[in-house]
Amino acid sequence: MKRSAGEKALEYVEDGMTIGLGTGSTVAYTIKKLGELVKGGLFITGIPTSLQTKKLATDCGITLGELDDHTLIDLTIDGADEVDSNLNLVKGGGGALTREKIVAYHSAREVIVIDESKIVRGLGIDFPVAVEVVKYGYLATKKTLETLGCNAELRTIVGEVYITDNSNYILDCEFGKIDDAETLEKNINCIPGVVENGLFIGLVDEVIVGSTQGIIIRE
Ligand code: 5RP
Repeated sequence: MKRSAGEKALEYVEDGMTIGLGTGSTVAYTIKKLGELVKGGLFITGIPTSLQTKKLATDCGITLGELDDHTLIDLTIDGADEVDSNLNLVKGGGGALTREKIVAYHSAREVIVIDESKIVRGLGIDFPVAVEVVKYGYLATKKTLETLGCNAELRTIVGEVYITDNSNYILDCEFGKIDDAETLEKNINCIPGVVENGLFIGLVDEVIVGSTQGIIIRE
């Protein structure tokens, strides 16, 4: 299902485009297929949203550029952890949320590729909201985040504190069902020490869902 969604997104690609390349196992299928098209003569410039994606895209032979040199991206293809009926998202499972959100914000079209397990009745029920914070004073930042109604946990990977590509920490914040994601997104980002959070509100144009019934497209 991830593969079929990831590869379907190639239908949105046109020669000469600047394309934001998201992060994760679903969009990895997009990137690998894009690499095949590039080898066949397609010319695009990819803007990677993480070091992981940068490596994958380079290995696939995709020409990469910097966001600062391509401030209006034609199309971004990315994954998500949760998608609601308004096409709002929780992202950040892979820790790349800050770069992903910057790239999404500067994209003319944002296409999300997921398998059907990511469709939810409400954001926050099954997945915590990842919040990238600077290391300085992170325990104070965590305490303040918790006043917004969550339990916040410092992300670790096999016993080591997880460090983002921007050299920051991630606090995974369990809110349970989020009723007003738009306000929460803003309130989280008002806390000093917070760099960005994984709520993507009003940024998405299409969601490609790989399901047992085949591909479903939500616009
Ligand atoms: C990375 C992300 C990913 O897009 C999200 O975690 C989905 O990943 P996958 O396609 O592997 O399920 O937000 O920060």
